[in-house]
Amino acid sequence: MAANNHLSFLLLLLLLALFQLFNPGRGQLEMNYYAKSCPKAEEIIKQQVVDLYYEHGNTAVSWLRNLFHDCIVKSCDASLLLETVVGVESEKDSSRSFGMRNFKYVNKIKAAVEKECPLTVSCADIVALSARDGIVMLKGPHIDLKTGRKDSKMSYSNMVEELVPQHNESLVNVLSRFNSIGIDTEATVALLGAHSVGRVHCVNLVERLYPTADPTIDPEYAKYLKMRCPTPTPDPNAVLYSRNDRKTPMVLDNMYYSNILKHKGLLIVDQELASNPLTLPYVKKFAADNVYFHAQFSRGIRLLSENNPLTGDQGEIRKDCRFVNK
Ligand code: HEM
Ligand SMILES: *[C@@H]1O[C@H](CO)[C@@H](O)[C@H](O)[C@H]1NC(C)=O
Repeated sequence: MAANNHLSFLLLLLLLALFQLFNPGRGQLEMNYYAKSCPKAEEIIKQQVVDLYYEHGNTAVSWLRNLFHDCIVKSCDASLLLETVVGVESEKDSSRSFGMRNFKYVNKIKAAVEKECPLTVSCADIVALSARDGIVMLKGPHIDLKTGRKDSKMSYSNMVEELVPQHNESLVNVLSRFNSIGIDTEATVALLGAHSVGRVHCVNLVERLYPTADPTIDPEYAKYLKMRCPTPTPDPNAVLYSRNDRKTPMVLDNMYYSNILKHKGLLIVDQELASNPLTLPYVKKFAADNVYFHAQFSRGIRLLSENNPLTGDQGEIRKDCRFVNK
């Protein structure tokens, strides 16, 4: 009887496998998805990311932020990259995307891939893989990522305000937003470690500095920030900003956590991680151990990059990442 059960179980597995095989519409992400259709795809993207990094180091920072802004809005589907068309604003133009840069270089990566394999590699996978390769340039971990994402046929700009947290979001909201897409608290705290690199413009800081400095900021640091942002109403077009991490601004390391433990966080959300009992234990763990931080960051990036992808015959492979195909 036991043997019989065993056999029917195996049969069921076989049926399931066959079903997957003959149901090509419902694909899924997999390692090295382009192995047959475009074997050099991952290598070409990596080379572009490396070349761009040596031309403009902050491109690597941008690829990391792109992954967050693309994936947190509905799906990792390159909806972020679509330009404004009549009647539909681009996600990039939303106030939540303030400060995002280097989009024009995505086109360069896409063109290099198109030259090798026309209409084969999605912009969504370029977003994911360029982030992965950018992280390595920023001395972060190498993260194996699945591929096979398809590109959206539309922009979700009307959902951006609701789905992308802002600089002063309460931590409770941030955690529940990430948890709702399967990212647990520890992985969320690790992902915010991305704020170890790059910059924050004064418009996102003045709320903490004027009229009086937020008491959770170290007083010396508050002085420094006021020097960086001398007026309470900065011109949003002026390039007034502060680096996220003054010591190693281009290294994706655990300095971010040491900084927030010393009350030297930049954004309200950053500093909140060190004051909330739900997140403080992780902040301490990451501050003490860069290898552990990198492991949790990698796990977070994998979860984020696999949020609700379009696969199989859903979506499309855009020819130009800025526009849906005609
Ligand atoms: C609660 C979640 C988050 C909030 C509220 C948030 C907000 C912000 C804000 C306000 C800035 C500064 C923009 C500017 O003034 O130029 C910023 C920068 C940045 N964010 Fe986040 N962020 C969050 C999570 C993440 C995550 C999960 C990642 C990546 C995994 C990320 C990556 C970055 C990067 C790399 C920058 C620097 C960009 C640059 O220098 O060009 N952020 N973020
Ligand atoms: C958060 O910041 C935005 C703009 O930067 C502001 O309009 C809003 O009032 C702030 N929210 C809170 C709760 O302080």
